[in-house]
Amino acid sequence: MKVLVLGASGATGKRVVRQLMKRQIKTRILIRTKAVLPDDIQKNTYVEIVKGNVSELNDLEMQQLLSGCETIISCLGHNMTLNGVFGNPRYLVFDAVKKVIENRDQKTDNKLKLILMSTTAYTNALAQEKHSIGEKLIFSLLNLLLPPHRDNVRAANYLVTEMRNEDAQVEWTAVRPDTLVNTDHESSYKVYESPVRSPIFNAGKTSRINVSHFIAELVTNESLWEKWKRKTPVIYNAN
Ligand SMILES: NC(=O)c1ccc[n+]([C@@H]2O[C@H](COP(=O)([O-])OP(=O)(O)OC[C@H]3O[C@@H](n4cnc5c(N)ncnc54)[C@H](OP(=O)(O)O)[C@@H]3O)[C@@H](O)[C@H]2O)c1
Repeated sequence: MKVLVLGASGATGKRVVRQLMKRQIKTRILIRTKAVLPDDIQKNTYVEIVKGNVSELNDLEMQQLLSGCETIISCLGHNMTLNGVFGNPRYLVFDAVKKVIENRDQKTDNKLKLILMSTTAYTNALAQEKHSIGEKLIFSLLNLLLPPHRDNVRAANYLVTEMRNEDAQVEWTAVRPDTLVNTDHESSYKVYESPVRSPIFNAGKTSRINVSHFIAELVTNESLWEKWKRKTPVIYNAN
């Protein structure tokens, strides 16, 4: 089994790579040339490092990157700088997800597993998720004013609406953490089909390390994958 991680240099991406290393899973990561990777990841023999920018790959380069990988994980997100938030690429996450799907190896019978790190700010309307008037107002403003929010919503929507055919060669899940926090150790966490608290007025916390644990379990635990595929699970720290 080989896994490709996009956004592997990010705060959650690095933790996902470490979870895969712990499980001795061969992992290919794509990082930008200037990205800084910790030593333990750089030196790990299970990790293959490819340098490049996902938004600049042509189809052939993407096909080469995907080659031999059955599972793709995206932990991509816009850098919280003026340029990262308002500059190009406006649709970093959506474009990457679409490019992965369009360039998958269509000659194999094996299904491609795609795990997208999404957010509780994405509302899965097909799962009958609804908002209060106040939430609707704030989400509309975020959509208007915050390009990274639009990108995250568009990426998850693409999977939910375009990839819902049960026979499709692509299986996916969009993992939705609430407010991300950094903690050094895993703790217990709970996973729900839909938010159980308001992401705007009563947000919960989700440790990045717990997100990474859940993502790695989705890679290795087939029954967990069966439970959450084609769904948008919401993950919160238990305490
Ligand atoms: N903040 C929250 O509370 C929250 C809650 C739920 C979900 N989320 C979402 O979760 C996702 C991951 O969050 P995170 O905090 O782990 O992300 P992060 O630390 O900001 O990492 C983002 C990753 O994307 C890469 N990236 C950024 N801009 C890029 C570009 N223009 N071209 C290529 N790669 C680029 C970064 O590469 P470099 O290292 O090279 O910059 C990095 O690997 C994001 O989509 C975020 O919106 C956030």
